[in-house]
Amino acid sequence: MFLKTAILGSGNIGCDLLCKVEKSPILSCSMFVGRTEGSSGLQFAERRGTAVYDNGVEALFNNLDRFDLVFDATSAAAHLAHAPKLIAAGKTIVNLTPAPKGILCVPMLNGDQVLTESNVNMITCGGQASLPILAAIRRVHENIDYIEVVSSIAAKSAGAATRLNLDQYLNTTESAITKFTGCDSVKAVLNINPAKPSVDMQTAVSALITHPNIDGLITEINSAVKSVQKYVKGYKIIVEPYVDGTRLFTMIRVTGQGGYLASYAGNLDIITSSAVNIAERLSVGVSKGVVREIDTRDKFTNGFDSRELAEPLELG
Ligand SMILES: NC(=O)c1ccc[n+]([C@@H]2O[C@H](COP(=O)([O-])OP(=O)(O)OC[C@H]3O[C@@H](n4cnc5c(N)ncnc54)[C@H](OP(=O)(O)O)[C@@H]3O)[C@@H](O)[C@H]2O)c1
Repeated sequence: MFLKTAILGSGNIGCDLLCKVEKSPILSCSMFVGRTEGSSGLQFAERRGTAVYDNGVEALFNNLDRFDLVFDATSAAAHLAHAPKLIAAGKTIVNLTPAPKGILCVPMLNGDQVLTESNVNMITCGGQASLPILAAIRRVHENIDYIEVVSSIAAKSAGAATRLNLDQYLNTTESAITKFTGCDSVKAVLNINPAKPSVDMQTAVSALITHPNIDGLITEINSAVKSVQKYVKGYKIIVEPYVDGTRLFTMIRVTGQGGYLASYAGNLDIITSSAVNIAERLSVGVSKGVVREIDTRDKFTNGFDSRELAEPLELG
């Protein structure tokens, strides 16, 4: 039996998500919702035989029996406005905007700890790319003095909402890095690259560490990469970790599966694949009618949670 989902937001992320949900053996998309009649995203979904709606979140409240879980692919501001109402209506949200709401989640790090949550925050594409590596670095080192994460994505893959959300992108990526590493001296950078042909999504990770242990790190990073590849097939280290004095450096490329845009758009792929992985795991509880606590506390946190230093989760 499929878990019925609604995709809210008909842009780049929403369309790529639809391609991923269609391939899921567990999820179905019963509503694809935008806010502009005839927009290219709504046409894309309609051509694939999905039921589309152009009246935004109102469509969800008019059809509450048609879905159990909402993927939010709108903007951070829109998420802050409609998430509390959807949760009050008993719906579970997997949030792909960088709004500072919900519990920050990287599937291979803390996916098992979010399965009774009503709002799961998938952070950002740069966060999903860098955090498995940063958590591995932290497992080998007691302290990291400084972390810098620079992601580069193709302009064509960054929709209007992504550009509008740049501040939230930086804040949420940095908050998640602090949460998963305990390091509070952190800098995130996003480069929206207009080059043609479009550039692949790449993320450079630098860390300042007093006594870097490169030998111990290689095994941890290889294990982290294998765990991510279980749900993001195109995730790859392209610059092996190396040390220059106290500076440790490595770099990741994410090749997309070519769902909505071509393979350069790994930035879409990494967050939509992560969101689908979490929705599939949440679906067990949702379909059994597990009552989710409507928790008004804000789970979005900067607090370092040492449980997340545990070994990468074994994902099936
Ligand atoms: N692109 C990326 O690389 C990427 C990666 C990770 C996360 N994200 C995040 O994902 C979200 C979407 O990004 P995107 O690149 O897909 O942007 P986008 O192409 O502009 O898509 C956003 C879509 O949401 C719709 N929308 C906005 N507010 C809405 C509302 N209140 N109700 C219904 N629909 C609404 C817009 O409709 P209209 O087109 O009709 O205005 C648009 O189709 C952003 O929050 C972004 O930060 C993006």
